[in-house]
Amino acid sequence: MTKIIVANWKMNGSKAFITEFFKNFISAPQNFIIFCPPALYLKDVLNHTSRVGGQDCSSHLSGAYTGDISSVMLNDIGCQYVLLGHSERRSYHKETSETVRQKAGHVLKADLIPIICIGESKEVRDAGRARDFVLEQLSHSLPAVSDKTYYIAYEPVWAIGTGLTATENDIIQMHEAIRQALPQQHIPLLYGGSVNKENAHTILALPNVDGVLVGGASLKYEDFNHIVAFSELPMV
Ligand code: 13P
Repeated sequence: MTKIIVANWKMNGSKAFITEFFKNFISAPQNFIIFCPPALYLKDVLNHTSRVGGQDCSSHLSGAYTGDISSVMLNDIGCQYVLLGHSERRSYHKETSETVRQKAGHVLKADLIPIICIGESKEVRDAGRARDFVLEQLSHSLPAVSDKTYYIAYEPVWAIGTGLTATENDIIQMHEAIRQALPQQHIPLLYGGSVNKENAHTILALPNVDGVLVGGASLKYEDFNHIVAFSELPMV
């Protein structure tokens, strides 16, 4: 079964980095890898692969919104995906689930696939409210019209960039809860949060895990090549 591997480079990289990365990146035609570089480098990555996504987009289609980029523009330059509601956007840019929902609507209209990120903080998990919090965030973030494909990425905030991965049980339980709450059954569910070359194989084999969203480890081609090699799992 082919799993989806998404590289979120966040605010990292340069033209030289991209040249070096793709000189050493190894993937097979059947692999399903999506790269989300900083907006300035989308075109550079599009020179190497067609599966490319933005890390965010505006909640408006066009107009006087200095510094913003619209979903239509991402489509125009050849992107196919957009990450939405990443925890770093939610916390540093105060994005609400309602904003994420609005963006998701525009993204779908622009014929792009939104990858909608959700996840609880450590405080929420410690209080035993992780499931309720995530399901509420999900219900408010989903696009109003949902006959088109979107992806969901469960990224517990406390696992992002910390080296702390959610336990297998945490992932199994949360992904099952998310799966049951989704209006359509075929929506791909990704896990993100300190995925690396050591744990990717185990995480990708868990039930209801259709792929992974990788931050830090996607910036090192040696590590990312390992993760990509795990994305073809035998059917069980
Ligand atoms: P890390 O893999 O660095 O923990 O980042 C995860 C993430 O935020 C991907 O979107």
